[in-house]
Amino acid sequence: MRGSQSHLSHAWSRGMARAGFAGALALGLTFVDLTAQGPAGNGADGARADVTFSKDVAPILQANCQICHRPGSVGPMPLLTYRDTRRWAPRMKDLVSKRLMPPFHLDTGIGIQDIKDDWRLSEADIETVVAWADAGAPEGDPADMPPPIDWPAEQEWQLEDLIGPPDHVIKSKPFDVPAEGGDTWWRPRVPTGLEEDRWVMAFETRPSFPAGRQVVHHAIPRLLRLNEEGEYQRIQSLSEYAMGKVGEIVPGDAGRLLKANDMIEWDAHYYPMGYDVQGDQVELGIWFHEEGYKPEFQQDLRLYPLRGDIALAPGGTAMTQGFHRWDHPVRLDSFQPHGHVHLHAMSIQALYPDGRLELISMVTDFDARWHHSYIYEDDVAPLLPAGTVLVMTGWYDNTAENELTPDPEIWYARGSRTGDEMSHAWLAVTHLTDEGFQRLVEEREAKLTTDEDGDSNDDNN
Ligand code: HEC
Repeated sequence: MRGSQSHLSHAWSRGMARAGFAGALALGLTFVDLTAQGPAGNGADGARADVTFSKDVAPILQANCQICHRPGSVGPMPLLTYRDTRRWAPRMKDLVSKRLMPPFHLDTGIGIQDIKDDWRLSEADIETVVAWADAGAPEGDPADMPPPIDWPAEQEWQLEDLIGPPDHVIKSKPFDVPAEGGDTWWRPRVPTGLEEDRWVMAFETRPSFPAGRQVVHHAIPRLLRLNEEGEYQRIQSLSEYAMGKVGEIVPGDAGRLLKANDMIEWDAHYYPMGYDVQGDQVELGIWFHEEGYKPEFQQDLRLYPLRGDIALAPGGTAMTQGFHRWDHPVRLDSFQPHGHVHLHAMSIQALYPDGRLELISMVTDFDARWHHSYIYEDDVAPLLPAGTVLVMTGWYDNTAENELTPDPEIWYARGSRTGDEMSHAWLAVTHLTDEGFQRLVEEREAKLTTDEDGDSNDDNN
């Protein structure tokens, strides 16, 4: 009984993890770009007997791991020096080769692969780490070590390097996190403080530093707007903080509207870390388009539910689906699966009006500890004609193989308690006009024909 679904999904990931992958090296905006120095691994000959920490592995850790694995960040241990790292070699080999570290769970080789802020390691880097662990984790010549990285000040916004400091910051109300106890949710409402309507080009949600980094599991600022009855109603989510995420930049031709007198309803999930944290506040940074700017299209970020019973027997699995039909053309800009501890995989497919069914994205090793929004590169974000149906499929696992299930011996169902399951996809969608859709399709086709080999995603530099 155990794991018919696990079997299916593992087959997906195993087969696909081997498929060649051209990965971007840069890990988000604050990750260090070492491409100029040339990352470890020439990758040319595959003979890697001489691989050492100092020469080959340290640059990979600097570029891909230390943002989290250094003192004061979220990783459980630093991976800065040879002494730090040596004993982790077998575990690194395991997690890196399964593509579980860095934590980026989009399936490699299935669906759209050109993702903004792609954290995945290149095949060459994975081979280097594996070869190093297999060789007994040799240090090599310390003189080969790259100079240590001078990490940017923690208080900086991640988008700051790219677009400067935010124009407007909205804070949640202060919250005291006790040293002990269970998870708590903090949902204060806060005015945006805007006196006029403004179009937004980027959002970033961040916890306080350093305490918030430890106690905030995730935080979502939701947008509330007055309806006709004079009540505040949820319109959409603006952004989400979860470890590893950078802010969201709205594509150039689209904007998100904040109206005067909108409210923010925070949804911050805190967990105790063994010490008191007083008055913690989460912040939303907002970057506006210039005054008077009117984007061609409007984008929103919304939750799309997967319906149906999630009835998980002891040791059982389940599958549910959700469907959404757009009556106008849209561009799908991002996808983020959401579930709890039993959600194991989620896919999204487009069922086109002509009957074609296309897999857009698949996340096989969903892990509820990580929330990642996969943002499609501008040139590949799916353009969906009016009448397209989005098909979302979720697979759930209550077998003993699922390390996260609290108890594989009991039943679970839909609900909001820990251990209960829920399921939806967050999608950022740009709503297009017929002419806009036509134009974007033509622009893309023109690009494809001029740009012979199409793909600008360099293979490990
Ligand atoms: C976005 C932050 C982040 C990045 C980037 C990241 N890690 Fe991690 N790593 C974590 C966190 C948090 C954990 C503990 C929780 C978990 O396993 O999900 C972890 C766990 C690990 C573990 C397991 C530790 C144990 O106790 O068994 C290893 C090994 C590891 N990471 C290696 C790496 C390597 C190697 C890289 C780069 C190639 C990397 N990580 C990149 C955050 C990160």
